[in-house]
Amino acid sequence: MEDYQLLIDLHKRANRQGPGGDAESEKALSLARIDRSAPLKIADIGCGTGASTLLLAYLLKAQITAVDFLKDFLNVLEDRAENMGLSEKVTPLCCSMDKLPFGDEEFDVFWSEGAIYNIGFERGVIDWRRFLKVGGLLVVSEITWITASRPSELQKYWEGEYPEIDVASSKVGVLEQTGYSPIGYFVLPEHCWLENYYRPIQNSFKEFLNRNGNSEEARAIVEAENREIELYEKYKTHYSYGVYIARKLD
Ligand SMILES: C[S@@+](CC[C@H](N)C(=O)[O-])C[C@H]1O[C@@H](n2cnc3c(N)ncnc32)[C@H](O)[C@@H]1O
Repeated sequence: MEDYQLLIDLHKRANRQGPGGDAESEKALSLARIDRSAPLKIADIGCGTGASTLLLAYLLKAQITAVDFLKDFLNVLEDRAENMGLSEKVTPLCCSMDKLPFGDEEFDVFWSEGAIYNIGFERGVIDWRRFLKVGGLLVVSEITWITASRPSELQKYWEGEYPEIDVASSKVGVLEQTGYSPIGYFVLPEHCWLENYYRPIQNSFKEFLNRNGNSEEARAIVEAENREIELYEKYKTHYSYGVYIARKLD
């Protein structure tokens, strides 16, 4: 995990580690028509320090297994859950999303915000399907083109970062072809990127660099983050995270 120490140090103090928002998670819950009083079993994959896990634990009568492969993030999540009186509803699990130790049809809901790209959308929805009960719900956010064409600078950047980036109709097609019935989709608005994610990180760059002796590696991380933010500000009408909600078919 040595390679991750700087990234952990930059991100672990933030409320979230990717674009999103409480209102948007709640919107996904409503579109999925998740029963708030049912004793559901939920997995939150790539949960980070728990922005979505804690909201789900607060809003639902559910048991949530919060999965991330970085123990430092899970430690923060555990502290936050305790402070919010939600510990009994949250079980942190440190493991990789491509080696989940779950049984077939164990979960009512598989939730994942800004994380499925780590194994790729198609692979994720195929691999995770068996853990869901028939009729169970998949709620995932995935970087998505929101225009039919886009400037080459942007196309090149994101195809380098994540070649699976595509338009929503393709993502919905993947869900249809892999045993799900898509039941909802919406696009994360700008404030989920800027106010909720990029600005807090930008505000922490100075302290991050100080903590890490202004090292070359730390500066490279800040530079890469600034490049991503700059591109978002320039081209935000062309892409966002799409939130996809789908039901597992027989
Ligand atoms: C962009 S962050 C999103 C975090 C959180 N869901 C949120 O929205 O704030 C992606 C998360 O996925 C986790 N992650 C990356 N690769 C992973 C893997 N192979 N298995 C489990 N978690 C992974 C990272 O540690 C990080 O917490």
